[in-house]
Amino acid sequence: MESLPFPKYLLFATLFSLCADSIAQYEQERDVLYALKHTFSDPFLNDNWNGLQCYENTSYWHGIQCINGRVTAILLENRGLSGKPTADSFVVLSELISVVFKNNSLSGNIMDFSFNLKLKHIDLSENMFDGPIPRSLLELELLESLQLQENNLSGTIPEFDQESLTSFNVSNNKISGPIPGTRTLKSFGFASYFNNGPDMCDSSSSSSCHFSDEHKARDSKRKSIATLVMVLVIIGLVTVILLLILYIKKSRRIKNLMKSYPFEEKVDLKLEDEEKKLVFMADEAGCFDLNDLLKASAEGLGKGVCGHTYKATVEDGKPIVVKHLRELKPFSNEEFMKLVRRIADQKHPNLLPLMAYYYSKDEKLFVYRYVKNGNLFNRLHGGRRSRDRIRFSWGSRLTVAQSVAQALEYLHLNSNHSQDTVPHGNLKSSNILLDDDDTFLVSDHGLASFMTLPMAAQLMVSYKSPEYQSSKRVSRKSDVWSYGCLLLELLTGRVSVHSAPLGINGVDLYKWVQRAVREEWISEIFDTEISVEKNAGPGMMKLFEFALRCCDESPEKRPEMTEIVREIDGI
Ligand SMILES: *[C@@H]1O[C@H](CO)[C@@H](O)[C@H](O)[C@H]1NC(C)=O
Ligand SMILES: *[C@@H]1O[C@H](CO)[C@@H](O)[C@H](O)[C@H]1NC(C)=O
Ligand SMILES: *[C@@H]1O[C@H](CO)[C@@H](O)[C@H](O)[C@H]1NC(C)=O
Ligand SMILES: *[C@@H]1O[C@H](CO)[C@@H](O)[C@H](O)[C@H]1NC(C)=O
Repeated sequence: MESLPFPKYLLFATLFSLCADSIAQYEQERDVLYALKHTFSDPFLNDNWNGLQCYENTSYWHGIQCINGRVTAILLENRGLSGKPTADSFVVLSELISVVFKNNSLSGNIMDFSFNLKLKHIDLSENMFDGPIPRSLLELELLESLQLQENNLSGTIPEFDQESLTSFNVSNNKISGPIPGTRTLKSFGFASYFNNGPDMCDSSSSSSCHFSDEHKARDSKRKSIATLVMVLVIIGLVTVILLLILYIKKSRRIKNLMKSYPFEEKVDLKLEDEEKKLVFMADEAGCFDLNDLLKASAEGLGKGVCGHTYKATVEDGKPIVVKHLRELKPFSNEEFMKLVRRIADQKHPNLLPLMAYYYSKDEKLFVYRYVKNGNLFNRLHGGRRSRDRIRFSWGSRLTVAQSVAQALEYLHLNSNHSQDTVPHGNLKSSNILLDDDDTFLVSDHGLASFMTLPMAAQLMVSYKSPEYQSSKRVSRKSDVWSYGCLLLELLTGRVSVHSAPLGINGVDLYKWVQRAVREEWISEIFDTEISVEKNAGPGMMKLFEFALRCCDESPEKRPEMTEIVREIDGI
């Protein structure tokens, strides 16, 4: 009776809705930014603010910063922007920390930040904003800096009393006094207030400003309310704890009672348990079971094949990655096991091994070790505009090319030899993982053989190959083609359209470099991050020519993996 099966559909339902939520959120944020762009109608932004705005911590748009796929800053100063943004311009941007529009020609009043409670920096100075400073700014409890100088703002100053607020300027507006006498506002001097309505500051001789005293009462009232709330919360907590203790005692009694009776359903449960086991591969220690897995805290990983993969941390275990396989071919038990065996038997230092699997009528899961340093896609394209980016050197890129080639060669030599199977099937930069000590691990191998054709054609890179497009066939040479595309991605540092995660725009790199060769701007092909390296030139050129051979339209003309490994070792 101890381990009643956890309703796992609940877990997956939550996971799926989480993923769906984050995509919806990303789209809403983009819509808000598109609306702003429309207001500005600035030729540069019109062109630049397109496609995906954020991927994890990388922003693809000018003036936008992101963390975990959410917009955290809009920084557009000195851009000569005009227009009249509306007050609801920032509604869904709930992760926003900074808004800077300093020195533009914006008008209207955009200061409704009631949905942006994480805001710390607001700089709207040197524009033509008008109207009052809204009291809703008092709700921003993290606000550190408010710069409103040199606008056409009117009304009075709200009673700012956030202790966090340390930089404040409303000078050169049409605001009337007196200034509320809160501790926060009193801490700023003449330089924050001057050149406003006549009843605010005396600029003539004394350079002093007028504060009113009626807000002290408000401060102390606030404090007493806070104390009251605190007391209520403590009383509530104590009650909850008492109730919990009572409940636990009672349920123990019931459990003990039940233990002393031989229940018939015990037998059924046991049978069911037998089936619902996680099966661990030979040399992987099974230190957790399905129940641990279902109880584990889980987080969705990646977009794209959303809902298919998540990360779980099993109680006092290491984090693992669970792939939820959907839309599989209709397998019999034996067929499924045979395919799993084949994947489990594939062992190579550059392949991510299968750790465990779970198989039941409605649920099929693959479990892998979590590789914490991320994937090649992020390493190659992430943080390009950030100062924190660590250069991805030619040497490391060559190591990637070599490791992946060796893993693929191994797969090609150790998989069934019929002509029309594709041993990996989904080789792309986001499936190459960075382990410790600069080792690169190829993942997702063999999954293509589980999928129905429509699903594979939609999701798997090999099915984007020219031969599948023209004759609906894939073969081991489709892996070679994917490998060629990967080499081009490594060399150009550009996102490939065939492996770009959902929502990110990529380029058909093969066509792009062919054009470059034709039009003779070859020097621009290579990622500047590696083309500046002194000794990289000849190797890069050689790898480039080789990549083109791997990408050849006709599968017969592409080299075999064994030849590829030899060639790359030569470089
Ligand atoms: C993004 O940045 C946040 C905060 O700086 C950090 O916690 C997170 O791990 C970063 N994510 C990635 C993928 O780098
Ligand atoms: C304000 O922005 C304009 C561009 O719109 C720029 O030419 C000018 O130098 C900026 N002024 C200051 C003080 O930075
Ligand atoms: C500033 O606002 C006043 C009304 O409050 C208006 O008459 C004036 O034209 C505005 N000035 C500018 C430069 O927009
Ligand atoms: C506030 O802005 C004005 C320019 O409008 C500047 O002269 C003044 O020094 C600023 N005050 C502070 C405290 O920075």
